[in-house]
Formats: sequence, structure tokens, C-alpha cells
Amino acid sequence: MPAGLPSKKLRPRLPQKSATLVEFRLRRYKPVAIEWTDLPTDTIAPSERRVIARVWASRARSEHSAVGAFSQLAYEAARLNAPSPILEMLTRAAHDEVRHATLCDDYAATLVGPEYQPLPRMGVPHGPTFGLEPSRERTLLRIVALSCFNETITSAYFTQMLKGPLHAPVRTLVSSLLEDEMDHARVGWAYAKVAIDAGWGESALTLAMDKLVASCMQPLVVARRFGRSHEAMRAFGYFAPGEDFAIAVDTLRSVVLPGFKTLGIDSKIGQDTLEALTRAS
Ligand SMILES: [Fe+2]
Ligand SMILES: [Fe+2]
Repeated sequence: MPAGLPSKKLRPRLPQKSATLVEFRLRRYKPVAIEWTDLPTDTIAPSERRVIARVWASRARSEHSAVGAFSQLAYEAARLNAPSPILEMLTRAAHDEVRHATLCDDYAATLVGPEYQPLPRMGVPHGPTFGLEPSRERTLLRIVALSCFNETITSAYFTQMLKGPLHAPVRTLVSSLLEDEMDHARVGWAYAKVAIDAGWGESALTLAMDKLVASCMQPLVVARRFGRSHEAMRAFGYFAPGEDFAIAVDTLRSVVLPGFKTLGIDSKIGQDTLEALTRAS
């Protein structure tokens, strides 16, 4: 397992009392050029390249799912008249994920060559309901689940990857993805603060903290049993599933749950749920 916890950059950037949401407006998109021909594909075995390509093909499919997820959340937030910086961040995230899906497919195709077939897309995910009918509380929890939980973990995963040696094109790819994913994580913290300041967010978040942790971690629990990577594979942007799981647990413990505490949310039940899921697997 790669040592170390996510960098300080990952700590949730919460609006200060004197700040306005305008401070969360996003930088402008800069195109990234990746020299795929610089990738030394012959430094690992073809079977290892196929394993890594499968992971990035699966990421491409997840990125595509995130297009629909963020679009749906932007729609829900617009219906609730959410502040314009929140809408800007959500719609921008949907746009980013389109590009991410293409980049991840490009990388997987570079690894395996002309035989590469992108995985079939899965449309738009249903998203967790938290046992709630459509409501401002459910929209808040869905934004928090995708952003504060999933996107923060993804940011931690890429941050960890960048701490190790990576081949130059992979470093360019991962750096570009990370820059966007950190913005995608921020929108959840910003909207949570908006809802708490408005007087209805605290109870919704406190009551659902166990469900938020469970919906994020349950799909990963099985993975903890599988494998370790070696350095040559990590240079291609690969962690074994068990290493992914460990990064997710570390990130919840050290970034996400403390982030809610900073917002004044009691996250004890979330910590208990996390420890139970970690022990049970
Ligand atoms: Fe993404
Ligand atoms: Fe994202």
C-alpha cells in the first residue's frame, strides 16, 4: 500500500464567514496535450498492460456515468434555485467528465493497441435515494455523496499516484484529471455549507451520515482482498483493488469525516459505520 495520506490540498475548502460563494468560481479550462508515443509500453508484460488497460477502460465508463450524474444534480439544484456558483460548478463538472472519459479511453487504447474496445456505457446512474422522496434534502445528500465522498476519494487516489514515479504521459494525464476532480469535490462542501447556513442542512446530513458512508464504501469492500501492485505497474497509473480500498478508507478517516466535523456535523455514526465495514470485510 502506498504510504501517506492525501495532501493538504485535498482538505475541504469551506467558505469562511467573510467569504462568498463567488470565491468558488472555477478556473478556465486549459487544453492538455499528452504525448502518448512517449509511453514505454515494453517495460511491462502484455498481460500487465491488459490489466492496466481494463482499469482505465472501467474508469472511462465511470467518467461517462459521472456526466449524467452531474447533469442530473445540476438539474435538481437549478429546480431548487441553488446559488449560481453551485450551478456553475455542477454543470462544469458534467462537461469535464465528458473529456475525462475520452482521455481514459485514449490511454487504455494506447496500452493495448488497435484491439482496444471501449466498454459499453451504462447511461445515467440512478443515484442513491437515502430512503427519501425528491426533496431539497435528497438533492443535498446526492450532491454530497457524489462530490464530498466519491470525488474526494478520486482526488486522493490521483494524489497518491502522483507521489510515486509515473511515466511522463501518465503524469500529464493524472495531473489534468486531478485538477478537475478537486473542483468536483469542492462543490459538495460548498453546497453543504449553503444548506447548513440556511438552517436545514445540518439535520439532513447528520441523520444520513451512516448511509453516506455505506453507499460510498460498500461497493469497494470486496476489493480489499485483491492484490498488490508493483512499481513498474504503478508507473503506468495502476493500483491493485486492495490498495484502492485502503486509499478510500484513509481518505474518509482523514479528510471527509473531519470535513463534516469542521462544518459542525456530528459524524460519529459515519465513523462507526466505516469501522464496521472495514472490520467486516
Ligand atoms: Fe472525472
Ligand atoms: Fe469528477
